[in-house]
Amino acid sequence: MLTQEMLDSIKKVEASRPQRIGADLRRMTAEEKQELLKKFHPDYREDGFVYLAVGPNKGEKVPTELGQLLHGKSRVLGKDVDLDDIFYDTDVLIIGGGGAGASAAIEADNKGARVTIVTKLRMGDANTMMAEGGIQAADKPNDSPAIHYLDALGGGHFTNKPELLKKLVTEAPDCIKWLNEMGVMFDKEADGTMVTTHGGGTSRKRMHACADYSGAEIMRVLRDEVINRGIEIVDFTSAIELILDDKGAAAGAVLMNMETGEIRIARAKTIVIATGGAGRLHYQGFPTSNHYGATADGLILGYRAGANLLYQDAIQYHPTGVAYPAQMFGALVTEKVRSLGAQLINVDGEAFMNPLETRDVTVASIIRECKQNGKGVPTPLGSAIWLDTPMIEIINGAGTIEKKLPGMLRMYEKFGIDMRTTPILIYPTLHYQNGGLEISANGMTTVENLFVAGEAVGGVHGRNRLMGNSLLDIIVFGRNAGKNAGDKCKSVTVGKLNLDHVAKYADELEKAGAANDMESPMLLPKYTHGSQINKFN
Ligand code: FUM
Repeated sequence: MLTQEMLDSIKKVEASRPQRIGADLRRMTAEEKQELLKKFHPDYREDGFVYLAVGPNKGEKVPTELGQLLHGKSRVLGKDVDLDDIFYDTDVLIIGGGGAGASAAIEADNKGARVTIVTKLRMGDANTMMAEGGIQAADKPNDSPAIHYLDALGGGHFTNKPELLKKLVTEAPDCIKWLNEMGVMFDKEADGTMVTTHGGGTSRKRMHACADYSGAEIMRVLRDEVINRGIEIVDFTSAIELILDDKGAAAGAVLMNMETGEIRIARAKTIVIATGGAGRLHYQGFPTSNHYGATADGLILGYRAGANLLYQDAIQYHPTGVAYPAQMFGALVTEKVRSLGAQLINVDGEAFMNPLETRDVTVASIIRECKQNGKGVPTPLGSAIWLDTPMIEIINGAGTIEKKLPGMLRMYEKFGIDMRTTPILIYPTLHYQNGGLEISANGMTTVENLFVAGEAVGGVHGRNRLMGNSLLDIIVFGRNAGKNAGDKCKSVTVGKLNLDHVAKYADELEKAGAANDMESPMLLPKYTHGSQINKFN
């Protein structure tokens, strides 16, 4: 049910439509973007961050909520953990059951390694499943990995680790082929050619999609493949600490059954952290598009074991999270909606920006429009901006939304909103961690035998990721970690297991006066009354 104020504003949106059709909305200059970001992007708010007191990145900035966990209390401290009582003995231990973990498992299995996946929810309960818009790959004649590289480098503000970005773009076409051959049903033309579209910041149409449920379709196929191969999956089991051996190499994990709290020890020759993102930490009180388990666990585990973080202070807010109705607060409205022609419109019916600027710039511009310019549309949870979805049908013809955005159409229909005829209200939502654990091109961290893949990695996208490079990243770097961990385990002899690094880290925190009692990693968010998120602005 839309309020009278919303209905009045919609009249202005409708009235301005004729002059907006075909209008070439101006792009901002580099200087304008920089100024905008500094003033309005949440990454630039000093009060949203703390400084790390210990560890390899001591003195560096992290989001406050992540900092609290990195300064928090290990779940193994004070527990009777018997490292000789080994329950799972495997070659490659994969922590996380999303797209990166599944891709790693398949490739490690191809290497002949024994693989065990542990996941704190169920296989596939991951951000991969929530991804909508698509996956980038330069596989059309007018495109090339070099052009893809330049787009992602510009989007990342020239901070991407070159060797990681090179891997991402050069292996992209093969990843699409791999997924397609495994059974992913990509959108195709009648002659079988892949349909490709633009995303924000792309200079070529290289977004491959499965309607607006690309991640769910990819996860469906990966999960089936893992299951069909008989790879061991341990559901509802979280990793609460990494175990090192007497040579300082990663050698296993302390696991906890999520229902009974029972502790199990897993020993492994190589480990792949594929724990995904951090949306459920609700940085700066933002809602999130992430799945229920996205609590940055891998970053905590890896950091305590001695691995470096990179760009841990660079967070991606997706410009278009649902702002209304409240039941869908923070849910993703895919960027594809804008690439199909929907414009961002303020309360007075004005298009205040080009809707395909990069995400960070778009977010800052929306926040400015609501907070500084007072041109947001009032909703029960704060002010918001219109995404003029009826433009999609006007530009591309009736039926486009049903065909290209069926999931979103159904989602809104449940609340009596027909996005084909009525614009929808959006506001930025916490979507992605651009930073994470630092890896080399082989996927390994500075800790021997500890690999990382997917959203838990920092550096691939620099300080800002482009749409569609995340689904790509989980496949490229998931496969890469799986291949290399699968190879490496053949030459590893695991030494005596220990948790000395955990006690040492806790000791350093105490000495620095930075220790707190928060159980860490968080594992699952706590949505008790008054906690974490209430209002976004
Ligand atoms: O807008 C989207 O569909 C999100 C895609 C992404 O983050 O890559």
